[in-house]
Amino acid sequence: MAATLLARGGGAAARALTFGCLRQLHTVYQTVELPETHQMLRQTCRDFAEKELVPIAAQLDKEHRFPAEQVKKMGALGLLAMDVPEEYKGAGLDYLAYSIAVEEISRGCASTGVVMSVNNSLYLGPILKFGSEEQKHQWIAPFTSGDKIGCFALSEPGNGSDAGAASTVARLDGNEWVLNGTKAWITNAWDASAVVVFATTDKSQKHKGISAFLVPMPTPGLSLGKKEDKLGIRASSTANLIFEDCRIPKANLLGQQGMGFKIAMQTLDSGRIGIASQALGIAQGALDCAVDYAEKRLAFGSPISKLQAIQFKLADMALALEGARLLTWRAAMLKDNGKPYTKEAAMAKLAASEAATAISHQAIQILGGMGYVTEMPAERHYRDARITEIYEGTSEIQRLVIAGQLLKEYRG
Ligand code: CAA
Repeated sequence: MAATLLARGGGAAARALTFGCLRQLHTVYQTVELPETHQMLRQTCRDFAEKELVPIAAQLDKEHRFPAEQVKKMGALGLLAMDVPEEYKGAGLDYLAYSIAVEEISRGCASTGVVMSVNNSLYLGPILKFGSEEQKHQWIAPFTSGDKIGCFALSEPGNGSDAGAASTVARLDGNEWVLNGTKAWITNAWDASAVVVFATTDKSQKHKGISAFLVPMPTPGLSLGKKEDKLGIRASSTANLIFEDCRIPKANLLGQQGMGFKIAMQTLDSGRIGIASQALGIAQGALDCAVDYAEKRLAFGSPISKLQAIQFKLADMALALEGARLLTWRAAMLKDNGKPYTKEAAMAKLAASEAATAISHQAIQILGGMGYVTEMPAERHYRDARITEIYEGTSEIQRLVIAGQLLKEYRG
């Protein structure tokens, strides 16, 4: 799959990308240029987004329609399992590559960006890291091609930010786990063929009593809530998952019993790099739209891009975007390099999501009335940006995580 991504350059190209990335970490920071292989990947994804997503993004949004055909094509390109090794049918690339790809896809269609991010980071990620060999073959390989996608169920109607307060329960009954409870705000819910779900196996242990499970969809005892009617990312489905005496084999426990909270937290560390990248794509799309309009729109006898009032806005937008992109690439490279990245992923998500909101807001201001109507993509960018400050940890949670890690560093 990596071969397909890199213009059919073969497994060697994928390996060059992985190892080349690590070798060139310092070069990236010195030159702020991506390694050549990552530049190729970026171009491939940009071309795909321009051809396959930009022309239909507004329609998908309007109709709340899942981009099934495009997701399949992305699977064929290797975009749905980017850091999964080739032995499990993944692309075998690294997280920097993943970040770049999510940004480019989201620049074309932010809904497609989150579908991709959830499958890569939240569904495949924990199975790759914590799954047994058997689980990896069963639950990863079929989810790499775009024929099937997965989802991740942590939040509940009664708890979102306080992830440790999960009230969904799993009880062992002979050779089966029996799940009961409701999970909320599940991205991909209506389109998924499996879910990584978190449930408490021992309430007295609080977060240490939470475990992770692999559940096929559909399955008896698991039903879907209504599709949420959302402000943005409307082409991706979001719904509750309702478990009522849902029985799954004992072997579907992911990792050890009681390890669920840590699995969720580590998964979200990676997921936040994906959402930061989605936010970058939305912000870049909004900036592109604003610059294009400012160059063409005449006022007071010349293009409005000649006005300082507009130039100052464009400068601030570009500054916020570039800063957030560097933070995101840094978090991705730390992960690729096996270094801790909890704080950096939270910083990346916080900076990129707030940049996306601010940039898409200013893009509308530059477009004026044209920014407020659906003829132009600016209003969609504005609606799509907002969720990046909410899911996979609100901006307030990112600040808590950053402060917690920072204080730990100071205290030694
Ligand atoms: N990596 C590994 N372990 C971690 C960790 C991390 N990043 N963060 C915390 N832990 C561990 C701690 O070390 C601690 O371990 P011990 O019990 O062994 O000491 C344990 O987890 C508990 O840690 P805290 O006391 O810090 O936990 P807390 O209850 O105070 O919560 C929190 C911390 C950061 C607020 C966490 O609850 C959190 O991230 N909340 C936000 C949840 C979230 O992002 N939800 C998004 C839902 S997913 C989504 O959006 C789905 C979608 O479809 C897009």
